[in-house]
Amino acid sequence: MSANIRNFCIIAHIDHGKSTLADRLLEVTGTIEKRKMREQVLDSMELERERGITIKMTPVRMVYHPDETIDPSLLTVNEKSQKSKVNSQKSDSEQSYVLNLIDTPGHIDFAYEVSRALKAVEGAVLLVDATQGVQAQTLTTLQMARDAGLVIIPAVNKIDSPLARVPETKKEIALLLCCPENEILEVSGKTGAGVAELLRVIVERVPPPLQPQTRDSGFRAMVFDFQYSNHTGVIVFVRVQNGEVKKADSLTLIAGKQGFKPIDVGVFTPEQTQKEKLSEGEIGYLVTGIKEPGIARVGDTITSAVHALPALPGFELPSPVVWASVYPESQDDFNLLRQSLDRLRLSDSSFVHEEEASGLLGRGFRCGFLGMLHMEIITERLRREFNLAIVVTTPSITYEVVTKSAAAQGFGETRAGKRADASPERALASPRREIIYSAARFPSYGEIAEVYEPWVEARIITPPEYLGPLMPLLHEHEAFLKTTENFGENRNLLILEMPLRELMRGFFDDVKSASSGFASLSYEIQELRKADVVKLELLVAEEVVPAFSRVVSRRRVETEAEAAVEKLHKILPKQLFVTKIQAVALGRIMSSRTLRAMQKDVTGHLYGGDRTRKMKLWQQQKEGKKRLKEGGKVRIPPEVFLKMVQSG
Ligand code: GTP
Repeated sequence: MSANIRNFCIIAHIDHGKSTLADRLLEVTGTIEKRKMREQVLDSMELERERGITIKMTPVRMVYHPDETIDPSLLTVNEKSQKSKVNSQKSDSEQSYVLNLIDTPGHIDFAYEVSRALKAVEGAVLLVDATQGVQAQTLTTLQMARDAGLVIIPAVNKIDSPLARVPETKKEIALLLCCPENEILEVSGKTGAGVAELLRVIVERVPPPLQPQTRDSGFRAMVFDFQYSNHTGVIVFVRVQNGEVKKADSLTLIAGKQGFKPIDVGVFTPEQTQKEKLSEGEIGYLVTGIKEPGIARVGDTITSAVHALPALPGFELPSPVVWASVYPESQDDFNLLRQSLDRLRLSDSSFVHEEEASGLLGRGFRCGFLGMLHMEIITERLRREFNLAIVVTTPSITYEVVTKSAAAQGFGETRAGKRADASPERALASPRREIIYSAARFPSYGEIAEVYEPWVEARIITPPEYLGPLMPLLHEHEAFLKTTENFGENRNLLILEMPLRELMRGFFDDVKSASSGFASLSYEIQELRKADVVKLELLVAEEVVPAFSRVVSRRRVETEAEAAVEKLHKILPKQLFVTKIQAVALGRIMSSRTLRAMQKDVTGHLYGGDRTRKMKLWQQQKEGKKRLKEGGKVRIPPEVFLKMVQSG
């Protein structure tokens, strides 16, 4: 029954043209009529279209008619009529296929989404931009696809471009896959060249969904994504592994521990289209009616409540990499912020949030994100979709710290351990190590015995002429070069290890500018290693501002201190009194600047006359400022927090 189904995805380095190629596939298969076509039709989120990047993965089902007829039970009503129209013009020997494509995000922050998509398909089109050749993330996603046991179909894209280097790119791909060059397809997502051939090859090389090993009756499906609708609650996107599912069947989300009966069942054409049932090997959606956040999770298994099958392997929660706190500009919006975060989590299970309070900023949330782009997207969505004015603190990674007192005791109750059980810190904490994911909570230098931090293995692909400018960067970012390889005719692959902290300190941007944009970078998180880092705090009018705290390499502490004080001095508006801005680390002041007071002419209204009257007013002003200063309240506008977080 599933012999006519082909499930595949497109994997590539960012901007190599996945979404544009997907547009052509939709067009060639007649899934979307040409007149209704708009660019990158699968990128539906406003932010995706604006920035030209794919943030959410999007599944789409196409019916492809090279030959004969498909099993009618697999088709929707519209597809049946479309098929009969096409078939009336075709011979009996022609056959139709259901092709399920999952368009995946290209940015490294969303690698988890890609890994889930790969679990739902049997094949992957590896797309390489002919103007750029193989890039760092081509290697990372290829590795993931290979690990998932997928059939790889290599294709060179953008062959229409005058800058295309098709033969060189083919050589690189052949080297990478150890395959003959004539197996590599040539396509253009822009002009549609080679797209019909690509479809033919997908049907030929991608195997139909595997028949389940066990012939157990019962239904089982993997959740590879989900969405939330105000109206109907969570809509889970599933790949059916065993059996079939219909509306109102009794089902269970195994990890979510929640029973439900689907209100609706259907497929993506690309809009959600109702269908009587979903069968083995199919990709579609179930409308669950569940309205609580945190229950639906990517990677979970859904099975029949009556005849339950065991969970499918490989479920894991994505671990946040970057942490930052989000506060409402006005405390009146605190509840709105909570509701908005809950809402966002209904459609994006990969970020976490937990309430916290800070003296200066009031009540807010500590949030964990998959990377800097993910953080930017979530905070931007809070501003746009929920109209919230928010303050975001300096992002930080997690550190594991052994305090001197814990070391002295041999073990210790972690600070995390004192929190509620649900805390993500608790799940991660090893007995003696305290997990810190906010720089403001990082212990001061004197209290620390040892600190551990995550490292990454990074890959850079660069033309050789940029090796020179890149080398000092590696040193500056504490990276170790593990290997250098020649890659293709005119490129080098560098494999290096470095602390995640240093990668987050603008390494991406530095690599791009040192190589005039020609080098590409990809990374994977590795184990924790011992770190030599300290907390750097900023004081305004002798008061610590926790939102400005950061953890920095000890060898860079002075440079960082000076830069931070300088930056804050430049952007903090003058106060009514003289304000000191200081950076403190290692128990001493590393850098200090004084912000002059705002000048207010209190004697301006006096015209000529007795100087003693002016003296009296000046004296009063001086005393007033002194009182204000003693009160110590410096108002830091939200845009200052924002600018301090932004690099540069
Ligand atoms: P992410 O989803 O952000 O990873 O990007 P993507 O891989 O989906 O790439 P996208 O389809 O957004 O294309 C990136 C850029 O390349 C856009 O400016 C496209 O117009 C351009 N592009 C895509 N395909 C082709 C092609 O075949 N030829 C030419 N000349 N340009 C193309």
